[in-house]
Amino acid sequence: MTEKPQCILIIDFGGQYTQLIARRVRECGVYSMVLPYNATLTDIKDTQPKGIILSGGPASILEVGAPKVDAGIFELGVPILGICYGMQLMAYTHGAPIEQGEQREYGRITVTMDDTSTGILNGLKTESQCWMSHTYQVAKVPNGFHAVAHTVNCPIAAMANPEKKLYGVQFHPEVTHTEQGTLMLQSFLKDICNVACNWSMEAYVDIAVRQIRNQVGDNGTVLLGLSGGVDSAVAAALLYRAIGSRLTCVYVDHGFMRAGESDQVVEIFTKTFPVELIHAQAEKRFFADLKGVTEPEEKRKIIGRDFVEVFKEEAKKLGKRDHFAQGTIYPDVIESGKVKGSAVIKSHHNVGGLPKELGFESLVEPLRMLFKDEVRKLGIALGLPESLVYRQPFPGPGLAIRVIGELTPEKVRIVRESDSILREEIAAAGMDRSISQYFTVLTGARSVGVMGDERTYDYAVAIRAVTTDDFMTADVAKIPYELLGKIAGRIVGEVDGCNRVLYDITTKPPASIEWE
Ligand code: XMP
Repeated sequence: MTEKPQCILIIDFGGQYTQLIARRVRECGVYSMVLPYNATLTDIKDTQPKGIILSGGPASILEVGAPKVDAGIFELGVPILGICYGMQLMAYTHGAPIEQGEQREYGRITVTMDDTSTGILNGLKTESQCWMSHTYQVAKVPNGFHAVAHTVNCPIAAMANPEKKLYGVQFHPEVTHTEQGTLMLQSFLKDICNVACNWSMEAYVDIAVRQIRNQVGDNGTVLLGLSGGVDSAVAAALLYRAIGSRLTCVYVDHGFMRAGESDQVVEIFTKTFPVELIHAQAEKRFFADLKGVTEPEEKRKIIGRDFVEVFKEEAKKLGKRDHFAQGTIYPDVIESGKVKGSAVIKSHHNVGGLPKELGFESLVEPLRMLFKDEVRKLGIALGLPESLVYRQPFPGPGLAIRVIGELTPEKVRIVRESDSILREEIAAAGMDRSISQYFTVLTGARSVGVMGDERTYDYAVAIRAVTTDDFMTADVAKIPYELLGKIAGRIVGEVDGCNRVLYDITTKPPASIEWE
């Protein structure tokens, strides 16, 4: 690995897909960094970027206070690719008008590539499905640019100024629904920015270990919140590599774990890491605090707060620990609205001001910029067993967010038992690696049924099963009908209090993966 890898800089305007751009760039074998739009020109130059990508964002360039980057970046002589809002900003800064399109374009749209002989569209087929999400568009190309792609409703779907190496696309090449998106990014990186595409996840281990050592210092100690999921396990492995036995882990059992999970977590963990593990049993506290609470965001906040309380108590018992670490990954951050300019989708339990409240010097989050599948690759690069790395993800708040509305012991039991049956059957069918995440949800709806000769009025359980790479977007997993029938039969037959099973066939977006 070179000491300072060649870097592509991404300027973030608060788009939901900013880190997806970063990740696609990494997939092309190029190191990338993200800076907010209000970074100074000096900060930008300090990263010595070989290329810059301007992200999309929720704002309209025409509104007062719309986020803008220092226009000096266009004079650096560094190649720039503007995506969606980023393209509009590029055009606007060069004097072009931005207008509301006649029709909002959202979803997969056919784009006609008008110039595939050069630039980022080089070598592409002329008609291509691209992911669009915009209301405003560039109405006229700025001086020095020419239009290189269009759609039925958007005459300038891509533009280029080859002389200055400035390019803009109204669609999102970083989203997998854009058929030729990766090819476009590769052309930008290889042909326009001239970077060597040889960066790898192994190299990330070195960078992350160095960053942890810098943050924690030579003697600093760290307490890590371990959930038993992939993310916190990989964070623990990375920290162990960086600071060894100065790491202590705390596993909090909040009472909303899947059947048999707590024992499994403790067993796998103690086999894998020779570091101290504290198993805090806090079921009573979580249940008591969630009594009567129905609103999903309120539930999540109470769970987040209770985690903090338990960590605080454990830290006190242990004596001083300098830093607090957790396995926060990028989707947790973006969906919690913690990226400047982005919207709150749901407050992930682990995103917030933990260290200040806890009295730690700092928060160590080495995976904060990575996506789930990258975390898995990192886990493998760190030598973790596949059985741990490829466990399906399980959210920190656990089954509490899979019971819609108020939690009661009965509802938690129904979701736990139905989930256990689903997992058993999916594993028996050999589908546990091909479905990215699968679980049951207690919908809160009750309906009339008949069992034997008796009327029942019981809960409906939904099966949620998705395939996805990054958990930012997801498709519905296609479980065969026969298997679904078997699972439904077992659930209504074996789980008291449930008389109906539904299959959730909604993609993300518009639905999220979890129901709360
Ligand atoms: P959503 O529901 O946002 O889920 O589409 C995306 C992924 O994130 C997981 N998830 C969480 N993980 N704390 C976590 O550790 C949380 O609060 C949380 N909420 C959602 C979810 O299970 C899925 O894998």
